Amino acid sequence: MLDKKELRFFGRRKGKAIKSSKQQLIDELLPKLKPSFEGKKQNEVSPQDLFSFQPKECWLEIGFGGGEHVAELALKYKDVGFFAAEPFINGVASLLAHLNGSHEGKTTHTGLDEARSDNVRIWDDDVREVFPYFQEGVFKKVFLLYPDPWPKARHAERRFTNQINQRHLYRLMGDDALFYVATDVKEYAEWTLEQVEELSLFEQINKDTSVPPEDWVPTRYEKKGILAGRKPIYLVFQKKKHK
Ligand SMILES: C[S@@+](CC[C@H](N)C(=O)[O-])C[C@H]1O[C@@H](n2cnc3c(N)ncnc32)[C@H](O)[C@@H]1O
Repeated sequence: MLDKKELRFFGRRKGKAIKSSKQQLIDELLPKLKPSFEGKKQNEVSPQDLFSFQPKECWLEIGFGGGEHVAELALKYKDVGFFAAEPFINGVASLLAHLNGSHEGKTTHTGLDEARSDNVRIWDDDVREVFPYFQEGVFKKVFLLYPDPWPKARHAERRFTNQINQRHLYRLMGDDALFYVATDVKEYAEWTLEQVEELSLFEQINKDTSVPPEDWVPTRYEKKGILAGRKPIYLVFQKKKHK
């Protein structure tokens, strides 16, 4: 594994105390859904290493928050494999509750809800740690929804859409793969567009950034923002060919 000291994570990992039912999911369900990269070499991990079936495609969600977005997509697209990363343990517990069915308060077991297929893998830490281990071109879609805005100019390089992360995503994404970024911070959207243009690995393909892309599932953060009067900005990027 990469040395954590090489990557500084600036977000929070823990919030309010986790209920015992959710703690049980962390203890019993998370180990079944968390892939191990121990002993893996760089550029080695393929979808076959993650899932017990051959997914039609693999999609990545970075910073899934409460997990409702990936949970809904995974239920709808059972033939797609999802790799979802979030270091905030309360968010991980929330995603596990969605996958287990207990977010609606009915489930008593700690397995997957019977309506689900086993198509979600969870990394309960900084996604950047595992980027190097994946083979090239494994992801067909990448979602970065309401990333931490880091509004101060001196913290701009912490914004996830920085050029270092763009280079990683470029390697990890397949031909024509799509990278979805949603934010309600105008400066973040503008900065992202500048960074993308400067590096020229991706091109923006949506014209009207106020219109959600087809098939859009709003996150909890997005819904709260709209109720508070904030306006979502949707950026859809496509990986450019031959760079
Ligand atoms: C503002 S929240 C948005 C959560 C969710 N996407 C939503 O829209 O409701 C941003 C999330 O990104 C996560 N995050 C930040 N840096 C990350 C990283 N390097 N790897 C994985 N998750 C990260 C944070 O922990 C936080 O939960």
